[in-house]
Amino acid sequence: FTVDWDASAAEKGGWDSYMDKEIHEDPAAVSETLLGRFDAKGTLNLDEVHIDEDVFRQVDKIIVVACGTASYAGLVAKYAIEHWVRIPVEVELAHEFRYRDPILTPRTLVVAISQSGETMDTLMALRHAREQGSRVLAICNTQGSTIPRESDAVLYTHAGPEIAVASTKAFVAQIVAAYLLGLYLAQVKGTMFRDEIRHIVTDLKAMPEKIQWVLDTQADTIAKTAKQMLNAHSFIFLGRHVGYPVALEGALKLKEIAYTFSEGFAAGELKHGPIALVDAGEPVVCIIPSPRGRAVLHSKMLSSIEEVKARGAFTIAVAEEGDESVANYADVTFWRPQCPTLLSPLVDVVPLQLFAMDMSVLKKNDVDKPRNLAKSVTVE
Ligand code: G6P
Repeated sequence: FTVDWDASAAEKGGWDSYMDKEIHEDPAAVSETLLGRFDAKGTLNLDEVHIDEDVFRQVDKIIVVACGTASYAGLVAKYAIEHWVRIPVEVELAHEFRYRDPILTPRTLVVAISQSGETMDTLMALRHAREQGSRVLAICNTQGSTIPRESDAVLYTHAGPEIAVASTKAFVAQIVAAYLLGLYLAQVKGTMFRDEIRHIVTDLKAMPEKIQWVLDTQADTIAKTAKQMLNAHSFIFLGRHVGYPVALEGALKLKEIAYTFSEGFAAGELKHGPIALVDAGEPVVCIIPSPRGRAVLHSKMLSSIEEVKARGAFTIAVAEEGDESVANYADVTFWRPQCPTLLSPLVDVVPLQLFAMDMSVLKKNDVDKPRNLAKSVTVE
């Protein structure tokens, strides 16, 4: 009697690919990254951070340095931290950063975001920042890797090992870590009331369940749409506010694993160029903000989807459950549950991760190991 034992299949825990497994670990990545951060009174406690509270109080600017997916997590951080802490947050691709003589002072906090902790571009950026006298906080998924070792403080994401080259669960965990940093700064600097912080923390704790809802209820529609779109030559992704980094990330996933030309744009830019690309049948994915949030954001995004629809685009909306206004403009809708606008990237990105994976599988690509790419790029 023999048992066939496929070690790699066992590691995938029954999923078809590591990417499939890791997307389904998005909810756990969020809850694990939130775990143990709060004391009995609900006070935020970032205990891996060994920078004096006083130094944090003095911080007057944040610069996020990162590459790829991690840089889009940084863009989400910009919207949240500027809103909560009222200090400017710049987001810079790490490889552009040190060659342009950036303005760094001891009151600048540089935040290096990296799943692997080994990306050479990000490492060189953080070395440059420290040489100039700024403090560096790493948001990293890999314990003991080089970037956290060389930083003044570390906020670990607890997504667990990520094997697939295209990042998924690490992205949502990076966003959570960035929110935690923002809430911590708001607490230390007194820019928010404790009750407000507590309220957001409660909303954050509800996010894993909402992500699970997307995974449980939207997979069929997403798979069907992927089949329908298999021969599309290019994709346009549009988003506004925090939907913009989601659009960029959705486009990156498709490039990476489906090898389909795709680009994300801030929806307001549409009229300044990209709309010329839209003709009959062009797929356009629109991230629609909550209608219960800032009304202006919602109505502006609706105008964008209406404009591309009028030019014959095939429109795919990512929209909030119950938002009936999208029905007039969307050929297909990937639904997500209600949640506060600033936290919505955590759910909005999930259908786009599934969509890219489905496209890649249908094209018979190697989902986990896309051509020409490496999980961690350790050269400049
Ligand atoms: C590579 C990977 C991307 C990743 C980027 C940054 O390009 O293929 O998936 O987003 O590096 O990696 P890091 O480990 O620094 O987050």
